[in-house]
Amino acid sequence: MDLGTMTAQLERLRSDALDAVATAADPAALDAAQLAFLGRKGAITELLRGIGRLPAEDRPRMGAVGNEVREAVEAAVSERSRDLRGAALIARLAAEAVDVTTPGRRIARGTRHPIAETIAAIDEVFGRFGFVVYEGPEVEDDVTNFQMLNIPADHPARDLWDTLYVDIPDHLLRTHTSPGQIRVMRETRPPIRALLPGRCFRYEAVDASHGFEFFQVEGLMVDEGTSLADLKGLLEEFGHALFGVGRATRFRPGYYPFTEPSVAFDVGCVVCDGSGCPACGRTGWMTILGAGMVHPVVLRNGGIDPERYQGFAFGMGVERIAMLRHGVHDLRLFMENDLRFLEQFR
Ligand code: DAH
Repeated sequence: MDLGTMTAQLERLRSDALDAVATAADPAALDAAQLAFLGRKGAITELLRGIGRLPAEDRPRMGAVGNEVREAVEAAVSERSRDLRGAALIARLAAEAVDVTTPGRRIARGTRHPIAETIAAIDEVFGRFGFVVYEGPEVEDDVTNFQMLNIPADHPARDLWDTLYVDIPDHLLRTHTSPGQIRVMRETRPPIRALLPGRCFRYEAVDASHGFEFFQVEGLMVDEGTSLADLKGLLEEFGHALFGVGRATRFRPGYYPFTEPSVAFDVGCVVCDGSGCPACGRTGWMTILGAGMVHPVVLRNGGIDPERYQGFAFGMGVERIAMLRHGVHDLRLFMENDLRFLEQFR
């Protein structure tokens, strides 16, 4: 090959190389272009190997041109590399950019569970009368859950409470909040005004009005001269506070081993207002709790002298009250944590 041909070829390679470098779209393409022209087997490198076969007097000139082309392509590569890095940085910044003018997204706010809300409403009403909230354990002993409440082991009244027992001998999941009465009487002196909200458990088949776990709120008042009239007045206030001031209320005779006399407390049906409908079994009344004067045996079991002190107690199912307050027909809804249900209680 002579000087003229080699120079012409070199110039063509220079312009091809500069083209390839200028159009390399990313660092990998640029590396490939650099290798293709300047690498050990690159086109420019290979061509310049032919310098040795030129006549001796042409070699310095060709060498100088070769170096100049090599440097020009190298310079183009490093400039293109800088541009590509700059473009990548700009793209990344654009992708990461925060538009501070975008309106905020609304954060989903939780709501108070209707059972907790109902317990709070009950606490509030009795709080006005000086009742203070206490809590007893969910795992109780048989003695406190039954025997101290005047329900001996072989007493048929045990059939009222289908019990879930635990692995600890003589212990069970409390079937009602009433054992809290014994605990409060033993821990405090009269006058006592205690409210005992809590979870209870029974071995029940679950349906729309029965759960195997549910909440109760128990009340206990013990003082000198406490009477059934006090209980009646207090529960009337409670019925009016929760279900409206005009709501009719009544006491009916009832039976519980731990109270004597025992009563059921009814309010006028919240669906039909007393005229009779399927919701109240056409009676016009709905029972919302059990109550009575604390049995002297129970007072004595609590360490209180029944000759000097009298007391009344009451116990209500929270789910039932929440159902009546909110027109809910199936108490299973309270335990299912379905947001479509819970979000209605904002
Ligand atoms: N412990 C009763 C139950 O679970 C409810 C009850 C009735 C509580 C009468 C009382 C009461 O304190 O006096 O069915």
